[in-house]
Amino acid sequence: MTRRTLSLTLTLVVATAASAYAFGGWAVITVDELPDTLSLGAPTQFSFKIRQHGLELMHDLKPSVEARMGSLLNPTVVRADAIPGKTKGQYTASLVVPKAGEWKVTIKSGFGPSDLPLLPMQATDGKSTIATISDGERGKRLFVAKGCITCHANATIDQKGPMQDVGPNLTGKTYDATYLAMWLENPKIRPRTNPNAEMPDLGLSKKEVAALTAFINGTTAATAKQK
Ligand code: HEC
Repeated sequence: MTRRTLSLTLTLVVATAASAYAFGGWAVITVDELPDTLSLGAPTQFSFKIRQHGLELMHDLKPSVEARMGSLLNPTVVRADAIPGKTKGQYTASLVVPKAGEWKVTIKSGFGPSDLPLLPMQATDGKSTIATISDGERGKRLFVAKGCITCHANATIDQKGPMQDVGPNLTGKTYDATYLAMWLENPKIRPRTNPNAEMPDLGLSKKEVAALTAFINGTTAATAKQK
């Protein structure tokens, strides 16, 4: 490769990375109320919103929810088509899984390759008790299910979001808990630092914000607060 073609190639690569954010084909999927478990043999409701670039609610899509269990070669797969929900950009699907155990649920936006694989979920018959989930563990699941993972990397989760360089890498970051909660409830509390990308308001509840804060700040949160 000559020097000239090399620099031309580099320019193209840089241009593609910068324009990927601004143009077209990616969306953030945000589950409204994430269930802790799947019901066995009965419908589990998945309600979610789809936002282009995390900001613009998208209607008229044909999303679906898929659950998968077992080996790659011989999986059990169930699917449910989603129908439009009550508000613009919202969809709901009800999924019935036929076996107890661990399922991988993926929400498919129907908008290009913008799919959201959730962290594994347990299906139970309601008779066997499932250990209560800690705030930190729920926060981890929400970090995926709310679509934070689409724009932010966090090394404690073995999953890479398609646009994970859009927002700062949150691995090992500790924030003042009050500030973090305020930020998650309203990412307009301070001026933007990145002219090209914006942190969306995902309409999180207080309980969700508390869980996400516990997860992001990790076990250091309690100690940091005492300082
Ligand atoms: C569409 C992409 C996108 C999504 C989805 C998203 N963020 Fe962000 N986030 C950003 C960007 C961009 C910034 C940097 C904003 C700035 O500095 O102006 C940011 C900043 C942050 C910060 C740093 C705040 C600070 O003051 O330093 C935290 C923490 C954060 N996001 C957490 C989350 C969590 C938790 C979620 C999910 C509930 C989430 N983000 C979803 C894009 C996103």
